[in-house]
Amino acid sequence: MLKLEKKTILVTGAAGFIGSNLIKRLYEDVKNVTVIGIDNMNDYYDVHLKEYRLNELSSYDSFTFIKGNIANKELIDEIFKKYGPQIVVNLAAQAGVRYSIINPDAYVEANLLGFYNILEACRHSYEGNTPVEHLVYASSSSVYGSNKKVPYSTDDKVDNPVSLYAATKKSNELMAHAYSKLYNIPSTGLRFFTVYGPAGRPDMAYFGFTDKLRAGKTIQIFNYGNCKRDFTYIDDIVTGVEKVMQKAPERKNGEDGLPVPPYALYNIGNNHPENLMDFVQILSEELVRAGVLPEDYDFEAHKELVPMQPGDVPVTYADTSALERDFNFKPSTSLREGLRKFAEWYKAFYM
Ligand SMILES: NC(=O)c1ccc[n+]([C@@H]2O[C@H](COP(=O)([O-])OP(=O)(O)OC[C@H]3O[C@@H](n4cnc5c(N)ncnc54)[C@H](O)[C@@H]3O)[C@@H](O)[C@H]2O)c1
Repeated sequence: MLKLEKKTILVTGAAGFIGSNLIKRLYEDVKNVTVIGIDNMNDYYDVHLKEYRLNELSSYDSFTFIKGNIANKELIDEIFKKYGPQIVVNLAAQAGVRYSIINPDAYVEANLLGFYNILEACRHSYEGNTPVEHLVYASSSSVYGSNKKVPYSTDDKVDNPVSLYAATKKSNELMAHAYSKLYNIPSTGLRFFTVYGPAGRPDMAYFGFTDKLRAGKTIQIFNYGNCKRDFTYIDDIVTGVEKVMQKAPERKNGEDGLPVPPYALYNIGNNHPENLMDFVQILSEELVRAGVLPEDYDFEAHKELVPMQPGDVPVTYADTSALERDFNFKPSTSLREGLRKFAEWYKAFYM
């Protein structure tokens, strides 16, 4: 039996890629669950995609969607008071590394102020009848910056972010730690590694490349293709989040009689980095297979090798041993299998 039965779960970023897939999975797996979702439906990328994902959730009777901003403290406090969530999953954020260079305000608002409001609401939940049992929140592999050591472990020192996005995600971990220590709030941070799949994010390479190739445009391959990414399929991410949600870090006191912060942090990544050129090759094959592109498509004519972009890192590679140890789980979907599902979805959705 999943420990989430009969729980009320608040998911922020509910119309987002990971949030909407998580909610769907919760309704598939858990009996008598109530999910409250919040999302401000911002237009960082095509809002139709967010509406499409929400529409897929509309058949779940106990799902409530609230259109709103997590940076609105009053609204967040009201939601916590009204619904009393026992589990909170914070996925709302301004994502993307490159956009943080041109629009930093959005990151401070959603990722810092928004997350602070969630922490405060969790803290005040202890004054009411429904204390939050577990706060799970999204961090990112970007906190590793240009870490030289691979694979990236949560034990590595990560004090050298190379983008504001990464800095806000690392800040979330620090803020959660302080709140766990001060108010004994069980929290788990999850560092996701390049998540992809059907109805994913159009600002990410696999999706953007597909759009461009289809429009006959040229794709730019950064760092002349000398990049490696630990691509993680959405279903694996959702399985990881669902497992983690059920096991809050234990509350206990240390030798000094004071609470040891009930705080945990995990990587969720594929633990199998792929070379960018191989990734482009597999994507091209799967786009042809799904009928998104014709068999005689001239890929060579639509590829341009360019230098590294500011804020980017040459490699991401997750050490997942802690996840395996504590949850007996590690992502396993191959890039070909995952990109096949993406290409098939793309064909059905856009063509
Ligand atoms: N997809 C990835 O590869 C990846 C990798 C590492 C970390 N993450 C993190 O995982 C989380 C989910 O990512 P995703 O890929 O689903 O992104 P997403 O952009 O699809 O989802 C985030 C959702 O949050 C909403 N949102 C943004 N600001 C908000 C605000 N102030 N108030 C309310 N809603 C707001 C957006 O409208 C969006 O629907 C994010 O925190 C992201 O930083 C994602």
